[in-house]
Amino acid sequence: MSDLYCVFGNPVSHSKSPSIHTAFAAQCRQDLRYEALLAPIDAFAASVRAFVAAGGRGANVTVPFKEEAFRLATRLTVRAELAVAVNSLRFDGAEILGDNTDGAGLLKDLTKNLEFAIAGQRVLLLGAGGAARGVVASLLEERPAVLVIANRNTVRAQELAQRFAAIATAARPRGCGYLELAGQSFDLVINATSASLAGALPPLPVAPSVFAPASLAYDMMYGKGETPFLAFARAQGAERLADGVGMLVEQAAEAFHFWRGVCPDTAPVIAALRTLAPAG
Ligand code: ATR
Repeated sequence: MSDLYCVFGNPVSHSKSPSIHTAFAAQCRQDLRYEALLAPIDAFAASVRAFVAAGGRGANVTVPFKEEAFRLATRLTVRAELAVAVNSLRFDGAEILGDNTDGAGLLKDLTKNLEFAIAGQRVLLLGAGGAARGVVASLLEERPAVLVIANRNTVRAQELAQRFAAIATAARPRGCGYLELAGQSFDLVINATSASLAGALPPLPVAPSVFAPASLAYDMMYGKGETPFLAFARAQGAERLADGVGMLVEQAAEAFHFWRGVCPDTAPVIAALRTLAPAG
């Protein structure tokens, strides 16, 4: 019988994880089955236990269960501990091992696929929620010259920056509100807010632009066509634009490696997803 994997979410029917992992399995000749499972909002832990009892070997976890998965895990990787969120579970007897592959997925996309070297660059991270928290440690590992975290709720940004100050190997991260960005410019601007879900934009200053010449604007969201943030970044002079499809596939590849010990080739899978939903 094939090994069983799944993604838990609510909602989950839109998830691209089943097609991504099925493609990885075919490419790496791994005998596994991967499906999307809708967990009731108040019964995530029970859903995981039922899946393990049915022979499940591992699972991805998406909105809104990443914090609950963190609490459910009996053992955590260092990066999951730093993120205080888990997006990948591995079931090993009675043990539930929790990992977080989001930060590594973002880094792989930035450094390998987009060939953007973060070291010495000025980086602006927008948002201070779960999505932002999952990538701060990975960004700091690359030793940017500056890491500014901007959020509508300034205190949340400052607290997030503070949490990671101790592990900064170069500049310490700084948290602020959007107004404080006036007059500053950055080489990499990452949108980790959920604003795009509502078709909205983070309130970035317009003139002067926060996008330095030759900058890269990166939206962790993706969808059909250009996201509102990327359209804004283009109009504001960002030279390069990228949506979150590459990160989605790279974080999946990290999870696949966590489960199966093999690294799939992500390029053909990213290309296939782009054909289905072309980015702007
Ligand atoms: P997630 O896990 O997706 O990060 P979250 O923890 O609810 O979700 O965080 C959402 C983030 O998007 C927050 O940083 C939120 O800003 P506030 O903390 O100030 O609320 C940000 N966000 C959501 N809608 C936004 C908008 N229209 N403009 C700017 N930021 C927005």
